[in-house]
Amino acid sequence: MLAARGVWKRFGALQVLEDVTLEVQRGEAVGIVGPNGAGKTTLLDLVAGAARADRGAVFLGGRDVSSLGAAARSRLGVGRTHQIPRPFAGMTVFENALVAATMGGGLRSSEARGKALEALEQTGMLALGNRPAATLGLLDRKRLELARALATAPRLLLLDEIAGGLTEPEALELVEEIRQFHASGLAIVWIEHVVHALLRVAERLICLAFGKVIADGEPQSVMSDQAVVDAYLGSAA
Ligand SMILES: Nc1ncnc2c1ncn2[C@@H]1O[C@H](COP(=O)(O)OP(=O)(O)O)[C@@H](O)[C@H]1O
Ligand SMILES: [Mg+2]
Repeated sequence: MLAARGVWKRFGALQVLEDVTLEVQRGEAVGIVGPNGAGKTTLLDLVAGAARADRGAVFLGGRDVSSLGAAARSRLGVGRTHQIPRPFAGMTVFENALVAATMGGGLRSSEARGKALEALEQTGMLALGNRPAATLGLLDRKRLELARALATAPRLLLLDEIAGGLTEPEALELVEEIRQFHASGLAIVWIEHVVHALLRVAERLICLAFGKVIADGEPQSVMSDQAVVDAYLGSAA
């Protein structure tokens, strides 16, 4: 359903992505790991349409969407969460989900209300619907990020370090929700440093290091791959 083929991205003097290919089948859950600065978020930006590749192309359901922006790709079924939650702080939780359903999902008002409520329900945020987003703690901000992505009615969900910064029980709670979304048929691409959380959902892992895919395959074998181990040790040094 998704294919980013041979994408390259440079910021100034920095070659951030170099000939990266990421393919995701319908309903598949793919994890992305790799040291800080490897280009993981940038790859998600290229898929979501938040940035354009310098070279290469992005296909959704066989269609070349390389020239489409984020709003258009959202309407084609790409939902994403951000590493740092980005709610509209001045709006309530419900309004945030409603904006996502309307703008990102392309739904009309009554449908959008229903979709927004459903997304809040799915993420355990319904009771907080009237709270200003600015007053939420980190777990609830992450949940709202997830609710906003779900409110756009995605077929492909892109998660950027959604478990990062949470306590262990909080992370596990969120993982359980994500497992259920996946079980209901949603394809997922999930960047995560909390690897044990990722391994509960991902069927396949990709490791990015210095802008290149250095491993792609069965999760346990990717995590024990020498090049992957070296990339992490190198980044810790
Ligand atoms: N908009 C940007 N302008 C300049 N440099 C950027 C931009 N976005 C990312 N970078 C740089 O690209 C590299 C990869 O960033 P990123 O994709 O966020 O990595 P990761 O998510 O793997 O930690 C980093 O060195 C980062 O500083
Ligand atoms: Mg990142």
